[in-house]
Amino acid sequence: MLLVGVGELVTNEPGPGREGGPLGIVRDAAVLVEGDRIAWVGADTHARERVSRHPGRDDREEGEEHRELWDDPVDVVDLAGGCLVPGFVDSHTHLVFGGDRADEFAARMAGRAYEAGGIRSTVAATRAASDDELRARLAGFVAELRAQGTTTFEVKTGYGLTVADEERLARLAAEVTPEVTFLGAHVVPAEYADRPDDYVDLVIGPMLDACAPHARWIDAFCERGAFTPDQSRRVLEAGAARGLGVRVHGNQLGPGEGVRLAVALGAASVDHCTYLSDADVAALAASDTVATLLPGVEFSTRQPYPDARRLIDAGVRVALASDCNPGSSFTSSMPFCIAVAVREMGMTPGEALHAATAGGAAALRRDDVGVIRAGARADLVELAAPSHVHLAYRPGVPLVRRVWKDGAPA
Ligand code: NIG
Ligand code: FE
Repeated sequence: MLLVGVGELVTNEPGPGREGGPLGIVRDAAVLVEGDRIAWVGADTHARERVSRHPGRDDREEGEEHRELWDDPVDVVDLAGGCLVPGFVDSHTHLVFGGDRADEFAARMAGRAYEAGGIRSTVAATRAASDDELRARLAGFVAELRAQGTTTFEVKTGYGLTVADEERLARLAAEVTPEVTFLGAHVVPAEYADRPDDYVDLVIGPMLDACAPHARWIDAFCERGAFTPDQSRRVLEAGAARGLGVRVHGNQLGPGEGVRLAVALGAASVDHCTYLSDADVAALAASDTVATLLPGVEFSTRQPYPDARRLIDAGVRVALASDCNPGSSFTSSMPFCIAVAVREMGMTPGEALHAATAGGAAALRRDDVGVIRAGARADLVELAAPSHVHLAYRPGVPLVRRVWKDGAPA
């Protein structure tokens, strides 16, 4: 497949002649896709000329780079001046659950505060749901994500909180994504309320044994009302010892040690980052840990938004993700997150798009997604707009026109 007539191509690969700093924008571009990968990125005129010639294997030009790419006829798709961006990378979701908490949301909008304890009501509904019910629900969310331009997504466990329930959530998540996170340390379940350390023993023992084969990541909710820094550290170190990468929920509901714990453990990402001290920001800036910001949470809990500007200006690598879950953020829309981040968190439209694509890829330690370059996965989003700025400029408007995942229409 050859995409031509791309008025604005956001590659996330800066280079000579490209615009937009880290966005690496190419004007009047074309993208050649072979199988599930991007084969070539370049000028629209060059691509059209080569395709019209269809050189055979015997009439290649001497020294012509990539000449073999143009030997076979390709399907040509003309974007007629539209904008093409990398598929969104949503590095933080909780998509396997039963029930919803619309009543809790309505109560919050009437003045009640968000509390981590609400997680337990979703745990009860999730335990009561069958595998097939959870699978069907998950498939619906995956369809929502794709329709809104998300081509890579992470899914956490954390609404089972027994060995058997966490194992089935991890297994179901692994059916839809390679980016599965074991979050047995989401909250202490009601039956362990009086003995949280016994629950931590369960998490790092039989629960980890059951979930690790399905997971790539370990996570812990390090927050008042969830797990202490010491408990979180035990969980994260046990996961790391099993070969899982580390990610942390930290500094969501108040100041705390989550961010510094994440940095100390070399976490790929610490997520939320709403309440940060200067020392937290400095520690992040000096690390490889990505700060993943989740605008849907503050939108849905009426808490103050994280200060993306402060983080970016300090040199911290930032990602945007949806945190899609039935409690704190029931949106699956990365365009919504981009628009809110621009309006409320001090990001430019370009910074927000970069954080929602390349930032998410960095938070998942992936170099094959979140970028449009030869060799990367052909995960592409065509916008019904002339420029990426419209993602924030036209909030709430369905601008995602076509999506390709691994080179196939999604
Ligand atoms: O990322 N912070 C912890 N976990 C989720 C909320 C889950 C819930 O409220 O059900 C989050 O916001
Ligand atoms: Fe979360």
